[in-house]
Amino acid sequence: MPASDLPSIAKLRPDFIWGVSTSSFQIEGATREDGRGPSIWDVYGQKGEIRNNDTGDVACDHYHRYREDIALMKLLGVQAYRFSVAWPRVLPQGRGPVNELGLAFYDRLIDELLAASIEPWLCLYHWDLPQALEDLGGWMNREAVTWFVDYATLIATRFGDRVTRFATFNEPSIFCLFERSLGKQDRAASESNLHRTMHHVNLAHGGAVDVIRENVPGASIGCIHSFQPCWPASADEADAAAAARLGTYWNWAFPDPQCRGEYPALIRSAVEPYIQPGDMARIHRPVDWIGLNHYSPVYINAQTNSMLGFAFAEKPAGVPLTPIGWPINPDAFRDTLLSVHERYGLPIYVLENGYGSYDKPDETGAVIDPERIAFLRSYIEAMNSAAADGADIRGYFVWSLLDNFEWESGYSIRFGLTYVDYASLRRNPKASFHWYKDLIKAARQG
Ligand code: FCB
Repeated sequence: MPASDLPSIAKLRPDFIWGVSTSSFQIEGATREDGRGPSIWDVYGQKGEIRNNDTGDVACDHYHRYREDIALMKLLGVQAYRFSVAWPRVLPQGRGPVNELGLAFYDRLIDELLAASIEPWLCLYHWDLPQALEDLGGWMNREAVTWFVDYATLIATRFGDRVTRFATFNEPSIFCLFERSLGKQDRAASESNLHRTMHHVNLAHGGAVDVIRENVPGASIGCIHSFQPCWPASADEADAAAAARLGTYWNWAFPDPQCRGEYPALIRSAVEPYIQPGDMARIHRPVDWIGLNHYSPVYINAQTNSMLGFAFAEKPAGVPLTPIGWPINPDAFRDTLLSVHERYGLPIYVLENGYGSYDKPDETGAVIDPERIAFLRSYIEAMNSAAADGADIRGYFVWSLLDNFEWESGYSIRFGLTYVDYASLRRNPKASFHWYKDLIKAARQG
């Protein structure tokens, strides 16, 4: 591989961490095995709400093939692996009786990672809420704070002897804003449910930070946020206002209270009815870093009859897009890194960035994905440029190690560095896998 194919990374720290990310529901499968309880995403699948009627029943079968997947990570040379624990696998009812077989799976996974010298980064919640808790109101119920903190205590005490990197939530703004059940209610109900839910998730974050800190010496804790600039699709003032409003919910409604102790001014009065005395201090607990997931800017129109008064707009003509229609704009990534750095002053780990497409093996069986390589190269260069301008960026994790279950899109969209043939479950590293391997090797050789 010519060195010119690799991005310039001269401004990144010498101890920069290169990694990959996944999440439990998207890769594990084995949804009815060894005592796991159902999650809300199993139920969406049973209701046929996923494209092509896909379900997470088998997914990448990582539950059985984790050793092979860790061997892939070792080949890739990553220093860290971000995964999530499936709450219903370890607490099938979300609370109450613990499922020892479920915990034992994560023991095996963590031990195998450590044996491969790959640091485990454990995320407590990547959207697969136990259905039993959803039946009690889920995040709309303030009791969810206690459920989550108890679950966090279980995980911290069980794995804290081997894991020090903990994330509380993945992208709270995304599951709160776009959770299916909220969207289906009328606008007034949706809005009050949204604000209640947001506040409970923020409280759960603060409570989890405390119990992890208490139970894990040397813990390094953060929350992973989705930061995507929301841009108006036209020069119209109403579009600008709608984009600013959505942008506030999407980007700042969680990190602001968690890292600055207050909700953004634009939404403060809407959350006010749910705030009890002492809540803001409970949310604003010291964290060690901020997790930043970034893919692309989104274009917004005003739409008065929708929740929060916005709609996703057509992308303006001429904007380069990935095959799944997401704008490609590395400058927006650079600006996002700089604005998150300025706003919070915390070390940043990029915990997701990647390229979604419809990859297929060619006639020789190889999966050649130069567009993904070009995307990653330009985004990593943009990160290098943000670092040059002072952003304190400590690591970069590609989404994702494997093609996997992409939520409502099922298996139709592929983000992996590794192609998964879902019929045979065979893993097939793509050209981008080898490219990332070369980059990590060059970076680690300095
Ligand atoms: C993020 C999610 C992740 C994956 C990527 C493509 O919003 O955190 O699970 O679906 O998007």
